Amino acid sequence: MLAMDECFEDLITSYLAQKVGISNNFITQELAANLADNLLQLNANQLLLSAGIGNALKYHHNDLIRNDRIYWLDKSHNDPYENEFFVQIEAFIAYLNRSCFTGINSYEFHYSLYEIGAFYGKHLDQFQNKSCRQFSLISYLNPHWTPADGGELLIHQEPHNQIIAPTHGKTVFFKSNEIPHEVLLTNTRRMSITGWLKRE
Ligand code: OGA
Ligand code: MN
Repeated sequence: MLAMDECFEDLITSYLAQKVGISNNFITQELAANLADNLLQLNANQLLLSAGIGNALKYHHNDLIRNDRIYWLDKSHNDPYENEFFVQIEAFIAYLNRSCFTGINSYEFHYSLYEIGAFYGKHLDQFQNKSCRQFSLISYLNPHWTPADGGELLIHQEPHNQIIAPTHGKTVFFKSNEIPHEVLLTNTRRMSITGWLKRE
């Protein structure tokens, strides 16, 4: 348990210091590789859907803002790697609720694939008409990422923006209603799992 809490500490400590938590061991490199394989398989089977902007009330596709494609993780898939990811998320939620009284009681995550030339313009993750998304958490699944690939996460912040490389197995964590961010244009296929810890 100690090792597990230590990787949560990375995420929390950097979150408290920089408002954006970063950990390179929230998930293992192996789990990241297995989830990347899942995503490529889903893509090969044409199961990825264009991502919408906003929730059901004002759902629309808008390629000017966002052109990744997604697939929701779900326990009903009985996929060992999705379940391993959920185990880690649930342990992190328990840790957060215990140590920071965050009152998180649900979550949702999807795979996300950005093809060459895709991006996601500046936005906040909380819907305008709903405030249940408390924290955003993204794990990157890009085994061969190099700076020439682009697709960095740009965090808009004073006095200096942060640019975060989407390297394999890295996890970032931030408050959904506070941090404007964008995904810069990617020069190669870019993969991640993105989701939210919610209070409903
Ligand atoms: C999102 C998002 C950031 C990233 O899906 O809302 O901002 O780095 N993703 O993938
Ligand atoms: Mn976002």
